[in-house]
Amino acid sequence: MPEKILTGDRPTGKLHLGHYVGSLQNRVALQHTHDQYIMIADVQALTDHFDRPGTITENILEVAKDYLSVGIDPNQTTILIQSNLPEIAELTIYYLNLVSLGRLGRNPTVKTEIQQKEYKDSVSVGFFCYPINQAADITIFQAEWVPVGVDQLPMIEQTNEIVRRFNRLYQVDFLKECKAMLSHTSRLIGIDGKAKASKTLNNAIFLSDTPAAVKQKVFQMYTDPNHIKVSDPGCVEGNVVFSYLDAFHLDKAEVESLKAHYRRGGLGDVTIKNILNHTLQLLLEPIRTQRAALSDKMVQEILQAGTQKAGLLAQKNMQTIREIMGIAKRWF
Ligand code: TRP
Repeated sequence: MPEKILTGDRPTGKLHLGHYVGSLQNRVALQHTHDQYIMIADVQALTDHFDRPGTITENILEVAKDYLSVGIDPNQTTILIQSNLPEIAELTIYYLNLVSLGRLGRNPTVKTEIQQKEYKDSVSVGFFCYPINQAADITIFQAEWVPVGVDQLPMIEQTNEIVRRFNRLYQVDFLKECKAMLSHTSRLIGIDGKAKASKTLNNAIFLSDTPAAVKQKVFQMYTDPNHIKVSDPGCVEGNVVFSYLDAFHLDKAEVESLKAHYRRGGLGDVTIKNILNHTLQLLLEPIRTQRAALSDKMVQEILQAGTQKAGLLAQKNMQTIREIMGIAKRWF
């Protein structure tokens, strides 16, 4: 039996090139060797989008199309919608008992996010507790692997603490500890040179961008502000065009020679931007074609089938957990 993977995304926006190098490419490969589940985490998205429910509804279909258009194959990967499995919400409630307030407050991922979002004391209990919801996501399917970036490692740790506590407390070995599958690609920077390509910072190239939009974003990219004349020596570090060439150009030797030329002087920004634009158009063209071939109806059917399959597993495991926790008796 291939080992199970659980991963997911919050449907708060369309997916972009940062997702492509950070997770999507991996998922396309992993579906051949693992039993892969991908969750569209709309309940988790609510924790910081409860005031914008329309955004979540809209993006569920967009995110699913992003998956399918890059080559995630619904025959090999189960795609599911979190909100349609109420068992996950139920399990979250039970897990709340197994985590202390102090421990949750020390979870570095949530701590950092609360600071970034400047929530301070007004952080909602729902947001604060989302690591527990994520632990329920992972464990209800008894997933063995969770592909994550380093910033999500504390989530895995938190999940495994719950698993150990549960198994020890109830003298069972039903819940499975999971392992992080670390992605080794470095994070893609934004077109403005900011640390991270992100939909909130509006500095990302989306998989669904038109050719014209991609070109415009490439030509907007931050390069080297001191590289004024073509003949000036230029700086490659922190230069967004070169970061993207590193991430996407297929010929690494060619990129190295472009870098050397740029450093020496004599290579203009327009030239390197044209090269990058060409590289990205080649990458995105087949993805666009795939996307155009997807009807809403087809995508909805895929989501329905995936959610149904995942739901059966969640129901079965939830029943066992209810029995273990002494809450299985039905009263009507
Ligand atoms: N927290 C993840 C993110 O923000 C999304 C997510 C929800 C997830 N549930 C998950 C990831 C379970 C891995 C496993 O991207």
